[in-house]
Amino acid sequence: MKISVIGLGYLGATHAVAMAKLGHEVIGIEPDESRLSALQSGKVPFFEPGLEEALLEVQKSGTLTFQSAHDEASAACELHFLCVGTPQLADSNAADTSHVFAAASELAAFISLDAVVAGKSTVPVGTAQQLKDEMSKIAGFEVNLAWNPEFLREGTALEDSLKPDRIVVGTWDREAESKLREVYQPILETGTPFISLDVPTAELVKVAANSFLATKISFINAMAEVAEVSGADTVALAEAIGFDERIGKKFLRNGVGFGGGCLPKDIRAFIARAEELGVGSAVDFLKDIDEVNLRRRDRVVELARQDLKDLRDKRILVLGISFKPDSDDLRDSPSLDVALRLSALGAKVAVHDPMALGALGDRHPELERAKDIEAGAKDAELIFLGTEWSEYKSIEPASFGDLVANKLIIDGRNVLDVVSWQAAGWRLIALGRNVHN
Ligand SMILES: NC(=O)c1ccc[n+]([C@@H]2O[C@H](COP(=O)([O-])OP(=O)(O)OC[C@H]3O[C@@H](n4cnc5c(N)ncnc54)[C@H](O)[C@@H]3O)[C@@H](O)[C@H]2O)c1
Repeated sequence: MKISVIGLGYLGATHAVAMAKLGHEVIGIEPDESRLSALQSGKVPFFEPGLEEALLEVQKSGTLTFQSAHDEASAACELHFLCVGTPQLADSNAADTSHVFAAASELAAFISLDAVVAGKSTVPVGTAQQLKDEMSKIAGFEVNLAWNPEFLREGTALEDSLKPDRIVVGTWDREAESKLREVYQPILETGTPFISLDVPTAELVKVAANSFLATKISFINAMAEVAEVSGADTVALAEAIGFDERIGKKFLRNGVGFGGGCLPKDIRAFIARAEELGVGSAVDFLKDIDEVNLRRRDRVVELARQDLKDLRDKRILVLGISFKPDSDDLRDSPSLDVALRLSALGAKVAVHDPMALGALGDRHPELERAKDIEAGAKDAELIFLGTEWSEYKSIEPASFGDLVANKLIIDGRNVLDVVSWQAAGWRLIALGRNVHN
């Protein structure tokens, strides 16, 4: 099928490559010049495991091309995926949907009568209807819009796109549904469920799913707050409650909390939208979910201050600044936030990350970039592990030698083996656990 993918960020670039891998002829549209030229020369402008190799493969076969705006070739596509960003507005909790409206209007000026548009961005419920009205006005006919929320996770994005656990589609029209069944046919043949819904439900599925996931993480982090003052161990608690199949163990790891370009802004946008709809109290609990999450960052800063007292000129090494491992996404990263807060309190903070220092660029010059872990650790009085990259999980206390005189480490992700670190003479503080020696 000839398709276009509009907006080539984390979601769109991955989706475009995945669609080309399924055998479709894909035109990717991206107005950002540096992103576009990177993609055109076979480079993914962010780190996502396996994506660049797959991009080169489909570019070589000619099934994926990129351009900055619509033209006759993109206008001839049968299906257009809208993948532009919906970040949080600067002055409120609400989502900034202006990019989606702009991209939809640009498309509407080109779209052919029988084409289908599938929105994949995460939007407040009710947005699709407004977009459909707006696009139809510009096109001069009723645009066939569907909503097809995306559930990929950064770090495993391509795999998630090619082998999703479900495909959710909201349509007003059978033709749109069958077009989407057709584009996803190779995936559906492997037994992936295709869930056909009305449009508002499809829009809501994504925010409801993210709200649930955020709630699960903040639930265990709330337990961590209680455990820290009562002598309990949150890791053992999560293990014990997770055996109950109704609860399950996934997303029940306490730590420095969630971040990234989705969960935080999605729950805030949901709060804002529910208020607009007059049902704010229905999701008022999400404000607590957000606050519990942010309090974990405060807790790390508090632990550092408890131990080091005055942070001025104290050297601290932060291991990991991306919001999660296997990604270089720094959007609302808990670890980076903690690093900046420690620095604002006068500490000399060095940051290390296997992949995300490039994404940091020259922002936050107050943070020293550690070229390797040893260089960052030299004379540090505290190490804070904020992102659970596999290379940090397997780090041996002996690898630091005598670099860290103070031998103090805060494990913000509960991935280090407490016994071996303590046996090596380190004081290890693990969030939600009373294991301090
Ligand atoms: N990142 C994820 O893991 C993920 C997962 C599921 C859903 N989502 C949702 O997908 C959407 C995109 O997220 P993202 O992380 O890819 O964002 P992003 O900011 O990385 O990418 C958005 C891209 O859209 C481009 N864009 C902006 N205006 C445009 C226009 N008028 N025409 C064409 N392109 C335009 C931007 O230049 C940018 O490259 C959001 O709604 C997000 O909530 C993201």
